[in-house]
Amino acid sequence: MGRHLSLAVATFGLLSPCMPAAPSPSINTDIQPPPPAPEPIEVVELPLPPVAPTEDEGACTPEINPRRTGCIAIDSHLAGGSFLPDGNHVIATVNFTGAPAAPDPASIYIGMQMIAVRTNGTTFPNGDPWKCITCGLPDENKWAREELTEYPQTFKDGRRAMAASNIVECGNAELTSSQCTPDKVHIYPIWWESGAIRELRIHPDNVHLGFSSFTQQNGALGQYAYFGRLVFNPNPDVGEPLHARYEIVNVTRLFNPDAPQPIEVKGKKLVINHDAISVGELRGFSGTGKEITYVGHPVESSNIDAFAADLTTGKVRRLTEHPEYVDPLDISPDDQWAVILDTRGTDRQMWLSGMRGIPPVTDLITTSITSATRNNGRRRFFVPWLIDYHGDRGSYFGQQINAAGDGTAGAINDPNWNTWADPRWSPDGTQVMYYQNLVLPPACGGHNPLPCPVSTAPGGRVNRLMLAKLASRSPLPPQPVAQLPEFIPWGVPVQAGDPLPVRPVPTPGTYTLEGKVSGSARVEIIGNGTSIDTIAVRYRDFSDDGVNTLAGTENVTVTRQSFSASRVDWYSDLSSRVGTKSSKRTGPGGFHLQIDALVNMFNATGTLVTTIDGVVYEPPANGT
Ligand SMILES: *[C@@H]1O[C@H](CO)[C@@H](O)[C@H](O)[C@H]1NC(C)=O
Ligand SMILES: *[C@@H]1O[C@H](CO)[C@@H](O)[C@H](O)[C@H]1NC(C)=O
Ligand SMILES: *[C@@H]1O[C@H](CO)[C@@H](O)[C@H](O)[C@H]1NC(C)=O
Ligand SMILES: *[C@@H]1O[C@H](CO)[C@@H](O)[C@H](O)[C@H]1NC(C)=O
Ligand SMILES: *[C@@H]1O[C@H](CO)[C@@H](O)[C@H](O)[C@H]1NC(C)=O
Ligand SMILES: *[C@@H]1O[C@H](CO)[C@@H](O)[C@H](O)[C@H]1NC(C)=O
Repeated sequence: MGRHLSLAVATFGLLSPCMPAAPSPSINTDIQPPPPAPEPIEVVELPLPPVAPTEDEGACTPEINPRRTGCIAIDSHLAGGSFLPDGNHVIATVNFTGAPAAPDPASIYIGMQMIAVRTNGTTFPNGDPWKCITCGLPDENKWAREELTEYPQTFKDGRRAMAASNIVECGNAELTSSQCTPDKVHIYPIWWESGAIRELRIHPDNVHLGFSSFTQQNGALGQYAYFGRLVFNPNPDVGEPLHARYEIVNVTRLFNPDAPQPIEVKGKKLVINHDAISVGELRGFSGTGKEITYVGHPVESSNIDAFAADLTTGKVRRLTEHPEYVDPLDISPDDQWAVILDTRGTDRQMWLSGMRGIPPVTDLITTSITSATRNNGRRRFFVPWLIDYHGDRGSYFGQQINAAGDGTAGAINDPNWNTWADPRWSPDGTQVMYYQNLVLPPACGGHNPLPCPVSTAPGGRVNRLMLAKLASRSPLPPQPVAQLPEFIPWGVPVQAGDPLPVRPVPTPGTYTLEGKVSGSARVEIIGNGTSIDTIAVRYRDFSDDGVNTLAGTENVTVTRQSFSASRVDWYSDLSSRVGTKSSKRTGPGGFHLQIDALVNMFNATGTLVTTIDGVVYEPPANGT
């Protein structure tokens, strides 16, 4: 733990000198105001149900919970969710365990359930600071096909919420009210005629939603994002389950194969379109619902960033620029701020992405690999950061939300507590919910040099729900919600049975990529026409930003091992001698990494080292 803390601290000190003032090809053309001053942030831990020491029946004893309202597991699969409209509660999903057998009334507190947690220090009438919303539902009220797990989100009516692909609804009663009793709560599945859906996000207009669906292209894992309308169907006559359900209709696929792609061939030239919409993983919507947020094709090589695209005009905004990896995020109700979960400050990815200004060419084949190195299995390196609308600029890389604390076990900045998706803004923009999991084997202990920490949380639980209070902010009035066209004009309306398009890739060949400021690169693309295996680039005096001027070569070959796992053979000999002094070099014999994007276990031979103004960044050790 000490090791990671000192790394983090060292990096914060070095970050600014490492990053030149105008480091990268920005795609944000707006005039950028000076960065905001740091603001006071107070972080508290929110209460959760008590913990049962085992999963045995009856392990949740009256001594542990005298009110007999259930216990959660040590690892309760916690997912923190959004605020209810009153701003005084967040919802969450947790795994209850150790319940006594029926007919004991406490037998209902079992399995994955949705709870509401008070955020203002008060309790529900029974004395608990939390309430289980879905415990004890009659069987005929629940038709969920999936467990109540991921991304709990609320609707603004206070009566409905969503988790995974289910909607929890309490008739006319607010979920947190005493009138909302188990007999009134229903869990309805969300059904889409074209198949399984994931990553569901409610649009702020509360009638539309975004979602993703997995694809396979050339045997590789992929996904498309969609936008549609949510409609309740009390009496469906097609598809499973044939029971009252929510359906998604009027669906737009947020990928158009005929629109400009991030990288295209024009004759003998390779062209990079920073304005192209490249929705990789859908992340949500802006606070007003004007934009959709996503992880997109990088602007700089191996530097995974978040983007927003205007749902009406398709205008793209790059939300983050820092070389480290970003993924989950939430934009404030007034669109002026974002909370991002990012590896910035941990140095997890700097060996790969620290060198700035490399055009995102090898990324045509490497993004699933370069993004997979961000975690060590269950150990996520995500830290919550607050960043303004204009994003990274100059020496401003946002403000770490959980920076206070002494770094000891259980402190709010204990690096062994890692943040998970998604963070959430309160409706008045003065608070942020985030949640964290403690590192567990095999991401610690055994062969892993990181010793496993002992949880200092109540009952030894390994999940915690956090609330950050932005103490100097005034509550925002309710914000207007964007009016959207029913079908997103830059996407493609889809219907059941429509064939899935393929993401076009440049035809194999040798191309020239011109630097925006100087020089050029010779790009060789090797493949079979539908799939690229190898990309080799030679840079001459190449600069997109006038700060980093690249010389040398980089070539990568990707070999697919399964639909989610691949191996990359990587050779870099790149340097920038003008502006920033930086280099990215593989050792003799190159660098060879194999990784599964669904497992995230680092396994490499050889070296790949990035050096920036004398600071050396190396890859993590295998298995870490
Ligand atoms: C706390 O939240 C509850 C539930 O919304 C509300 O009734 C109560 O007035 C709030 N108390 C304070 C001190 O904010
Ligand atoms: C919830 O806990 C039970 C054991 O009590 C376990 O079988 C189940 O897999 C857990 N669910 C999740 C989603 O973790
Ligand atoms: C090209 O290679 C990919 C990946 O190996 C394979 O799935 C695909 O069938 C190949 N296509 C052709 C036209 O050979
Ligand atoms: C679907 O879109 C069409 C065309 O805009 C519209 O007429 C229809 O009302 C929409 N469906 C629903 C359920 O709103
Ligand atoms: C990639 O670089 C290695 C090491 O320099 C070299 O052996 C190999 O031929 C290169 N591959 C291509 C396609 O340029
Ligand atoms: C790491 O990769 C090598 C092949 O390069 C493989 O033989 C080995 O089993 C892998 N190790 C782990 C722990 O996956």
